Amino acid sequence: MTTAVPGSPAEPAPSAVPTSLSVWPASARPAPDGDITVGGVGLTEAAERFGTPLYLLDEREVRERCRAYLRSFPDTDVLYAAKAFLCRALLHWVRDEGLGLDVCSAGELEYAVTSGFPPERIVLHGNAKSPRDLEAALRLGVGRVVIDSAWEIARIAALVPAGTRQKVLVRVVPGVSAGGHAAIRTGTDDQKFGLSVTGGGAEHAVARILGQPALELVGLHCHIGSQITEPGPYTTALRTVVQLLARIRDRHGTLLPELDLGGGHGVAHRPGERALDIRALGARVRRELAASCAEAALPVPRLAIEPGRALVGPAGVALYRVLAVKRTGTRVFVAVDGGMSDNPRPALYGARYAPRLVGRRTTAGLRPATVVGRHCEAGDVLAAEVALPGDVRPGDLIAVPVAGAYHLSMASSYNLVGRPPVIAVADGRARLLVRRESFADLTGRDIGL
Ligand code: LLP
Repeated sequence: MTTAVPGSPAEPAPSAVPTSLSVWPASARPAPDGDITVGGVGLTEAAERFGTPLYLLDEREVRERCRAYLRSFPDTDVLYAAKAFLCRALLHWVRDEGLGLDVCSAGELEYAVTSGFPPERIVLHGNAKSPRDLEAALRLGVGRVVIDSAWEIARIAALVPAGTRQKVLVRVVPGVSAGGHAAIRTGTDDQKFGLSVTGGGAEHAVARILGQPALELVGLHCHIGSQITEPGPYTTALRTVVQLLARIRDRHGTLLPELDLGGGHGVAHRPGERALDIRALGARVRRELAASCAEAALPVPRLAIEPGRALVGPAGVALYRVLAVKRTGTRVFVAVDGGMSDNPRPALYGARYAPRLVGRRTTAGLRPATVVGRHCEAGDVLAAEVALPGDVRPGDLIAVPVAGAYHLSMASSYNLVGRPPVIAVADGRARLLVRRESFADLTGRDIGL
């Protein structure tokens, strides 16, 4: 989505694309014969052992990103947004590091809880929570439910077992426009999430929740968008939400103790692009929170944040095998064995990536090429007009960094190609986390005529 990231530098000319590993996991190293190692594991060896397409997740990179968040946001609940990518091992890493979890369906919730994630550290979202979502939330003892519409207030209250109370937050829309693409901007009233601050929907919902003895309103939530690269929109949103906390105190005499600022922290997908500076964000948000609470004579609420992409995106690498190279009148198409079924982001958001040839040395100069997938659709483009060696050919390996978020979690079974496996790499060892989707997996739900 980098074409739309505010403040990012203009697209470099393909021949000038840097060959640095700056957006790769910190463990990435050039290796002999044009190979690259990640977590001490050679990509060529990984491709041979596990097949392609293949996704690698650098465990240390994920853990270090969790720790960096905790250092930048002391006294804050850092909740991993599971929609970015979910598997059991990742849940364990995130839990071990002391994070909580943000889920948005009964599926994500059950996956987490049955993997041993403590339910009280989980927050459930959703603009349209189904009866199953709510039933699972109450049955599994989810920590907080984020109310996103007035309709769900009575529904949740009705499910709360007698004598207990369910903690809830209200998701509010602060009227801040931010985010790397129209489809992922959620801070203004012209989209489906949350309850309007300016339109009064938020205050109306607060009043109704306070009238429900089965619900314990513990705070407000806002998530203004995704792939945001500057702290400014967060501090603007925060001021609006703190003012709302003050109005709730004035009107209802209630001090809400929690404030969840959502996620949306932008990452760079190509060398030279801007990423949100998490340390700077932490410092700015905490300073602004203290100042606006002091101004409103409010106690500082406990802060929560919900990063997804910034925790796992840069820890992931996608690895493909070239199946065909086609030179048309003006373009070179490099077709690989994956595509929009494992990474729909270029098609959905115009996301741009920096693929790279690995596993072979070449003296050929860089030429513009378009990396396409294997699906029956011309829009199946993984990376348009990128710089690849002029002699790229079938059998070569192409690696795409920053592939850890919103690829496999949005993957599909299009053309029944089957979703790729995921391996963890760390300390020179690779282990399978999620196996490749088989023909039996793909057809097993079809119960016949
Ligand atoms: N909290 C809430 C309530 C959210 O809706 C989201 C993302 C997050 C946290 C985490 O946002 P992150 O830190 O990962 O940006 N499929 C799109 C992104 C959609 C994000 C939806 N909500 C993409 O591939 O860019």
